[in-house]
Amino acid sequence: MTAVNSLSRRLEHRHADLLVHGGTVLTPNGAECIDVACVAGRIVALGNLHGHWSADAALDASGLHVLPGVIDSQVHFREPGLTHKEDLEAGTRGAVLGGVTAVFEMPNTNPLTLWAQDLQAKLDAARGRAWCDHAFYSGGSAVNAEHLAELENLSGCVGVKVFMGSSFGDLLADDESVLRRILRHGRRRLAVHAEDEARLRERKAIVEASCDVGQHPLWRDEASALMATQRIVRLADETGRRLHVLHVSTAEEMAFLAGHKHRVTVEVTPHHLSLFAPECYERLGSLAQMNPPVRERRHQDALWQSIRDGAVDVIGSDHAPHTLEEKALPYPQSPSGMTGVQTLLPLMLDHVHAGRLSLQRLVDLTSAGPARIFGIEGKGRIALGYDADLSIVDLHGRRTIRNDWIASRSGWTPYDGASVTGWPIHTIVRGHVVMRDEVLAGVSPEGRPLRFLGAAVPTQPLDDRWERSIT
Ligand code: DOR
Repeated sequence: MTAVNSLSRRLEHRHADLLVHGGTVLTPNGAECIDVACVAGRIVALGNLHGHWSADAALDASGLHVLPGVIDSQVHFREPGLTHKEDLEAGTRGAVLGGVTAVFEMPNTNPLTLWAQDLQAKLDAARGRAWCDHAFYSGGSAVNAEHLAELENLSGCVGVKVFMGSSFGDLLADDESVLRRILRHGRRRLAVHAEDEARLRERKAIVEASCDVGQHPLWRDEASALMATQRIVRLADETGRRLHVLHVSTAEEMAFLAGHKHRVTVEVTPHHLSLFAPECYERLGSLAQMNPPVRERRHQDALWQSIRDGAVDVIGSDHAPHTLEEKALPYPQSPSGMTGVQTLLPLMLDHVHAGRLSLQRLVDLTSAGPARIFGIEGKGRIALGYDADLSIVDLHGRRTIRNDWIASRSGWTPYDGASVTGWPIHTIVRGHVVMRDEVLAGVSPEGRPLRFLGAAVPTQPLDDRWERSIT
């Protein structure tokens, strides 16, 4: 029997590889009490399937909510070069333990991800070690600006990321002529860390004199963020390029960006939505130090309002680990960054529980949003023919987040000791149950590169993939 026949027979005989039953499933129609049948990593049937379908394996999701796999659109997994802080295995393990099924990884590694061989090295390092699906950003800089169109077309590349202000690592493009060259080479949405380098340099003396991490939002102030955001939007308008502004942190940028939604998409982070100054710096010291900074309550309120208004497209964790020893250096030598990939979903479910956003809006921000704005093939919704990526959660599960739960090589979270309501219970990546009952399910890491619409290698139809996957 050929592989294609075998697939047809499975469909004909209604025999799935995996049947998820009894849960409340978040489909594009809303919350439905239906079952999900998966064959060859795809969703092949939805509905009241119990008794009609048999399966090699079944997962009882009674009392739980079945969400489309959560896509974390910003993580720094530090490999190669900085693996004492994080690596692809531990980073993606943290992802699936936190209910995340796919990640976009950032280019400020060592070496920087600037060329095809750097991207290929990351893809090779992820093969057989990544627990979830993944794509890598290429960095945009003066040295590779003319090559970016080729880079972003490579399989497993999500696109190009630019640091307009120095953060961690050597990636920087603050010169207007370099930014124009970057914008002119490539078609994908350009992702930007928007802080104005000249202003940051001017103001650094403020913090060097004080040695007080509480001054971090004063050094990297609202104007630094707004100036860079306005500048890159002006250049994008000039060059006709689509933009994605990462980790927007100020009320002023949100007001400005709401007028540019035809061209610009917006990310916010769980830490900007959950922590606020000055309280976070008094309580956590440099553990709360991020770029752009966590700011005062009025900014946080504006971010929440923008989530309600629909101006925010995605939530990314900006998982940016450093060791506790590094974080203990006196400010401002202490590096900016905190872990986040594993706590993204628990924190956001807690916000759902508190009534700050609906579960449907969360799905929009963490699954449908990234799939829509980056053109990820086959992901982002629970629908026939889509990848069987499922984040299965207990909306009422109350847990305390602890450092010893964090898989990151850095081993800490700023939320240590925080109680949340809402918790990931099972994580399914392309039909593989990777986390079951809150622990790794004893399978091997089988994460694959994400595929993007319009990229060089198109997705195979289900039958062809099946044929390949059983040889
Ligand atoms: O605080 C940050 N740390 N912000 C960034 O954009 C980079 C990151 C890092 O890589 O540590």
